[in-house]
Amino acid sequence: MKKLVVLISGNGSNLQSILDACASGRINGSVAAVFSNKASAYGLTRAREAQVPACYLDASAFADRAAFDCQLMQEIDAFSPDLVVLAGYMRILSPQFVAHYQDRLLNIHPSLLPKYPGLHTHRQALENGDTQHGTSVHFVTDELDGGPVILQAKVPIFAGDTEEEITARVQHQEHAIYPLVIGWFLEGRLVMRDNRAWLDGAPLPAQGYASD
Ligand code: GRF
Repeated sequence: MKKLVVLISGNGSNLQSILDACASGRINGSVAAVFSNKASAYGLTRAREAQVPACYLDASAFADRAAFDCQLMQEIDAFSPDLVVLAGYMRILSPQFVAHYQDRLLNIHPSLLPKYPGLHTHRQALENGDTQHGTSVHFVTDELDGGPVILQAKVPIFAGDTEEEITARVQHQEHAIYPLVIGWFLEGRLVMRDNRAWLDGAPLPAQGYASD
């Protein structure tokens, strides 16, 4: 069975959707381990409840980012994952880490990339008066939130919406699309080649599958 390792920093609702999809067979694979850079991350509790090893690494115990990531890579590799999944992992990755997991490292970012890379995406969409927002699953490259997009889900923004309402609407979509994409990858349907995402042998457009 194919194996994933999931990296988190917080609540882990996306992790939960992945665990649930593995349990129900919607993902043909299993979560071998969960790593967090925050001891208090609720996602670690979710992992333990699913009988998945829950590992915490304290960045303050390391000299620099490269040393932390080096240890993280060693611990991840002990589980021999086919795919490494970032799910709300709020730490910048070293170039060594990105290179090590090249072509098998996914992230979910809460905006319609290339719009709003970085933080506070929901607030920006609201403040800019956007009527449409969403989330993107993409391969990770050295460019922050800049790797090839695989799949996006769009949500409307209604007059009077709060940031919390938009966040919930986006997360609802995230919980549907992230397990779907992970399933594609583990089935061998999705690959990254020549800095592009390919699904079923065809390159995906810049905005990912089924973009209009
Ligand atoms: C998600 O909205 C994801 O897009 C972003 O961080 C959030 C993590 O939420 N990268 P959770 O920890 O999965 O609940």
